[in-house]
Amino acid sequence: MALEIKVLERGDESVLMNVAAEVFDNPIDADLTAEFLGDARHHLAVAIDDGLVVGFASAIHYVHPDKPPQLWINEVAVAPEYRRRGLGKAVLRSLFEVGKAHHCTVAWVLTDRTNVAAMALYASVGGTEGADDEGPSDGTLGYSFMLS
Ligand SMILES: CC(C)(COP(=O)(O)OP(=O)(O)OC[C@H]1O[C@@H](n2cnc3c(N)ncnc32)[C@H](O)[C@@H]1OP(=O)(O)O)[C@@H](O)C(=O)NCCC(=O)NCCS
Repeated sequence: MALEIKVLERGDESVLMNVAAEVFDNPIDADLTAEFLGDARHHLAVAIDDGLVVGFASAIHYVHPDKPPQLWINEVAVAPEYRRRGLGKAVLRSLFEVGKAHHCTVAWVLTDRTNVAAMALYASVGGTEGADDEGPSDGTLGYSFMLS
């Protein structure tokens, strides 16, 4: 079976019962999975190889009284043996489409200046680098992506 990119929804909880090593930080929790997938503002795009989840990107879309909806990318990870095959880009682009469907104008993410792979990934999908230079010099780096 070919690699598949899928945005999970309520009812897809079982997809996360078969996850490759080093994709998520911790073992999948059934209750937290149900809460996440049952919440309309939480989004999860996964890369699946023959039933095995080998990568994901997660995000939340939120509103603010004076700003249009924005998409915050929470985490992105791909199993080590599946990296450098475009899966990071694919799951992120899938989330960008979700953001557009929710009328988000911007997506953004934070990473660390030492994370060469993450910086390359975010640049490759159109991210604009914008560090918060007024804060402490802790190596945190932000990228924004225009969705509209
Ligand atoms: C960051 C990560 C998700 C990238 O996933 P991936 O599937 O390997 O990324 P892709 O194959 O889609 O590559 C996207 C781009 O980044 C580049 N890239 C990926 N890894 C790279 C690396 N280690 N060094 C340099 N460039 C890299 C690719 O060449 C590609 O560039 P291109 O589009 O110009 O050809 C993956 O390395 C990972 O899971 N790292 C550990 C978790 C992590 O750090 N997540 C980010 C937290 S902010």
